[in-house]
Amino acid sequence: MIVLGVESSCDETGIALYDTQGGLLAHALYSQVAMHEQYGGVVPELASRDHIRRAIPLLEAALKEAGIARTAIDAIAYTQGPGLAGALLVGASVACSLGLALGKPVLGVHHLEGHLLSPLLSSNPPEFPFIALLVSGGHTQLMRVDGVGRYELLGETVDDAAGEAFDKSAKLLGLGYPGGPAISRLAEFGDPLAYKLPRPMLHSKDLNFSFSGLKTAVLTVVKKHTTNLCEQDKANIARGFVDAIVDVLTAKCMTALKHTGLKRLVVAGGVGANSQLRASLNAAAAKRRCTVFYPEMEFCTDNGAMIAFAGALRLMANPDAAQCNYAFNVRPRWPLNELTAA
Ligand code: KG4
Ligand code: ZN
Repeated sequence: MIVLGVESSCDETGIALYDTQGGLLAHALYSQVAMHEQYGGVVPELASRDHIRRAIPLLEAALKEAGIARTAIDAIAYTQGPGLAGALLVGASVACSLGLALGKPVLGVHHLEGHLLSPLLSSNPPEFPFIALLVSGGHTQLMRVDGVGRYELLGETVDDAAGEAFDKSAKLLGLGYPGGPAISRLAEFGDPLAYKLPRPMLHSKDLNFSFSGLKTAVLTVVKKHTTNLCEQDKANIARGFVDAIVDVLTAKCMTALKHTGLKRLVVAGGVGANSQLRASLNAAAAKRRCTVFYPEMEFCTDNGAMIAFAGALRLMANPDAAQCNYAFNVRPRWPLNELTAA
């Protein structure tokens, strides 16, 4: 079965073709980052309009790369939510109209389920059950995953998401959007002893997170400088920020492993691309004889492959999961725990 995946929840248009027998056949991605950069963040209306421009050319490119005709597609999976309403509507309408034209079933996929299952696309996939740390621009959650759709929320952020904290702190340092990769690179040159920033909720007994205070701590340090920040100051603050956020994320992941007795940790979402986080998690997990699994770098941030793959897994478990009435609705807010087992 060949499943077409369509992702358009935010500022990346992703198209992919996944074959349940042959694996990932092709994937194509267009990032709108350059367009939104001048505004310092994603402009929803511009995002929607750009998805319209990109979706069909990306589909043509993916079909060409896979060497198959449109008619070879057996089912279409699209991101139904959560995300920006207008952006989601573009992907949903492309998927459903294509389904109607080809007479193929369509299936709405949960964006976070896509992220969560993306490490299973790699050459060394984890087995169920595992602990998953989902760290993206909009979400920070720790979950116990027992199978497709079998998710138990263990803890989550009570305010900002980890990616949001990266982006907002980077903005305070005058770095571009999205700030995550930039602040991470800058931190490499920073002195770890220059600024010791707070580690919010590190010792709370639960598995929740809070990152808005950390961003405020960065703001306070920046404001204390009466003169312009020099590059070394910026690098030192970046280092203080990255060390603090990585410490908290690592500690909570280890607590989750300890409490559940599980030995596998999966990290998904854009912040999972962060090198300092990876190094810290790998070292801490090794001490506990646990293994950490990551998606391939290119599938850490938003992409169509994870949507095609999550759709394929659901369809393999239940061919009736897809529908043929092509009346679609999107779910900009959609808690992951509303999903049912596949
Ligand atoms: O998963 P994703 O592509 O989109 C959402 O679903 O939100 O995650 C985007 C987030 C952004 O906040 C971005 O700054 C962050 O992931 N990010 C990183 C890195 N690469 C992306 N944060 C820290 N270090 C990175 N290397
Ligand atoms: Zn995402």
